[in-house]
Amino acid sequence: MEIQAITNGGLVHKQVFLGHPSNASGSQDREEDSVSISYPATEVVGHGSFGVVFTTQINETGHRVAIKKVLQDRRFKNRELEIMKQLIHPQVVDLKYYFYETDPQGEVYLNLILEYMPQSLYQRLRHFVTQRSNMPRIEIKFYIYQLAKCLNYLHTHAKVCHRDIKPQNLLVDPQTFALKLCDFGSAKQLKPSEPNVSYICSRYYRAPELIFGATNYTVQIDIWSSGCVMAELILGQPMFPGESGIDQLVEIIKILGTPTKQEICSMNPNYMEHKFPQIRPIPLAKVFKREDDETIQFLSDMLRYDPTERFNALQCLCSPYFDELRQTDGQDPEVASVVQNLNLMDFSDQLEFDSLTLEESQAVKQRLLS
Ligand SMILES: Nc1ncnc2c1ncn2[C@@H]1O[C@H](COP(=O)(O)OP(=O)(O)OP(=O)(O)O)[C@@H](O)[C@H]1O
Ligand SMILES: [Mg+2]
Repeated sequence: MEIQAITNGGLVHKQVFLGHPSNASGSQDREEDSVSISYPATEVVGHGSFGVVFTTQINETGHRVAIKKVLQDRRFKNRELEIMKQLIHPQVVDLKYYFYETDPQGEVYLNLILEYMPQSLYQRLRHFVTQRSNMPRIEIKFYIYQLAKCLNYLHTHAKVCHRDIKPQNLLVDPQTFALKLCDFGSAKQLKPSEPNVSYICSRYYRAPELIFGATNYTVQIDIWSSGCVMAELILGQPMFPGESGIDQLVEIIKILGTPTKQEICSMNPNYMEHKFPQIRPIPLAKVFKREDDETIQFLSDMLRYDPTERFNALQCLCSPYFDELRQTDGQDPEVASVVQNLNLMDFSDQLEFDSLTLEESQAVKQRLLS
């Protein structure tokens, strides 16, 4: 779903709730957490699977925003709203306000007023593909670093799994190279004791354990999807373009080879006795012929069958692939200025390292900040 604003003229006045209410623990919509705003009415241009998104500008603050309107079933709490209220991070699209609306048929709609970003990573990649060129390697590195930073916060602090990482749900600003994650419509706080549906995540980006129907999967499914996104940015097309659920597994096996018994066991033990055709892996260095060793190694660390062997978000951040962003001596001044403008080396102990012991966090900081 693409969005574009066509202004209709008249101002809309709304009483809205703050995206991050003062009393963070309560999920009640409270009068004292509401303000009134106005914005020019715009025509909806994009229709997605769950609703519509349009853009406008808040009169009172001058902020450009995107408004995502979704049908709200009165019987349930909206999980996307509950999760977005809790999330505050530079690489997460910020929920500024929200409000409810009832149409003449009595249907209730929830409107999420979000921080605006100029385009999706999908659109950015199409720009290069139509020009028959590649996305510059350093641009890919800026985006994937921010994605890893975002997932480290999401997985370790908020304990939320996004469950739909794909280029359409990553928003970017090609001028600054900022990246922010959006669309928490599939996101969930996973609890180890509770099973979760496996029919989530968009096909090309689905981790193999989901294809195997696992219901005890972890946040590591987001890392697999991120590996697929990075591969796609390099290749200019999806790495595993499966035509159906099962074909998706065939595409993966064609490159990574048949999973071992041990790997199948850690994805879904119910398939241990299943006979798979024995396919040998194609070395990733052959798939990505022009990439350096650090890039190849990083991709293979993210695209591991065994979710426990697959890098977690913090390990991703520590990968030598990102050393180019950390170097201080002799660093390309343009790289240095992007790193500085986006505060890529700023970490919050409270939001990003709170699951680590003091010693672990000291070691990690030494690695990340050197
Ligand atoms: N904050 C934003 N700023 C700019 N564009 C946005 C923003 N939020 C969403 N969009 C655009 O709208 C599209 C759909 O938004 P979102 O992914 O949240 O909804 P969706 O219901 O999942 O739609 P779809 O099923 O098509 O993905 C995004 O892919 C993006 O192009
Ligand atoms: Mg989406």
